[in-house]
Amino acid sequence: MRAVNTSDSPFLLDAAGLTKSFGEMRAVDHVSFQLKAGETLALIGASGCGKTTTLKMLNRLVEPDEGSVRLGGKEAHDIPAHEWRRRIGYVIQSGGLFPHRTVAENIALTPGLLGWDAQRIADKVTALLDMAGLADASYAGRAPSELSGGQRQRVGLARALAGEPELLLLDEPFAALDPVTKDALIDDISALRRRLGFSSVLVTHDFSEALRLADRIAVMEGGRIVQMGGAGELVAAPATEAVRALLAAPRKTARAVAQAFAGFAE
Ligand SMILES: Nc1ncnc2c1ncn2[C@@H]1O[C@H](COP(=O)(O)OP(=O)(O)O)[C@@H](O)[C@H]1O
Ligand SMILES: [Mg+2]
Repeated sequence: MRAVNTSDSPFLLDAAGLTKSFGEMRAVDHVSFQLKAGETLALIGASGCGKTTTLKMLNRLVEPDEGSVRLGGKEAHDIPAHEWRRRIGYVIQSGGLFPHRTVAENIALTPGLLGWDAQRIADKVTALLDMAGLADASYAGRAPSELSGGQRQRVGLARALAGEPELLLLDEPFAALDPVTKDALIDDISALRRRLGFSSVLVTHDFSEALRLADRIAVMEGGRIVQMGGAGELVAAPATEAVRALLAAPRKTARAVAQAFAGFAE
């Protein structure tokens, strides 16, 4: 993955004052954050608090009313939206694969748009299928409907990484997966991140996912970031009731799990 940074800014990504209204309703209200190369930030909060809209403003699927996004020192509006989008990998809940294209064609999409030669595309598809645990020759030619949910999500991740993006956006990528599949995919993404060193923004409503994948957590409430910091900072001093509420359920789970496992060696 490239870590292009042509500006003096120490940040790979700089989102400043992002604001978006739909009619009268302000979905995102002056959201700002920065990301260093290699870092993962989790955007976490209740349904409807503006997470997806924020993420879509980063890759210009939604144009902000106010605010700016810089990636690798370049301002989003200095280049055409479709070119901007190719610098950014995007993974959504259902995988978002094209149903009438094969697994290999789905992965090859962005490299094709980037004008890579056929051999380079083929090599990349092979490497990513391998990475996704779908190296068996039977997978490349399958339709997305012929995969399990976890496999579809792995192909979605492979597709997002195929163009060697500078930034990866993940919008609730585990929401449709059973707990065991989800756990395996979280481990895989962590390992990939160690290997490739990519930078990402992860949207989730699950604090435990944020704990496992993110360096920093930004809690959103009503379109604003109400607290941003390491997990320890949030736990030590929750800034609002919403932050406290977000931590309550995983705490109860952790207590129950600790009780159930007490006395048993892992
Ligand atoms: N295209 C749209 N048109 C109108 N309202 C929208 C649109 N997209 C999102 N919203 C509204 O903006 C708010 C934030 O939505 P969203 O960013 O999807 O929240 P989250 O991802 O945190 O659940 C919600 O109230 C939602 O209904
Ligand atoms: Mg959402």
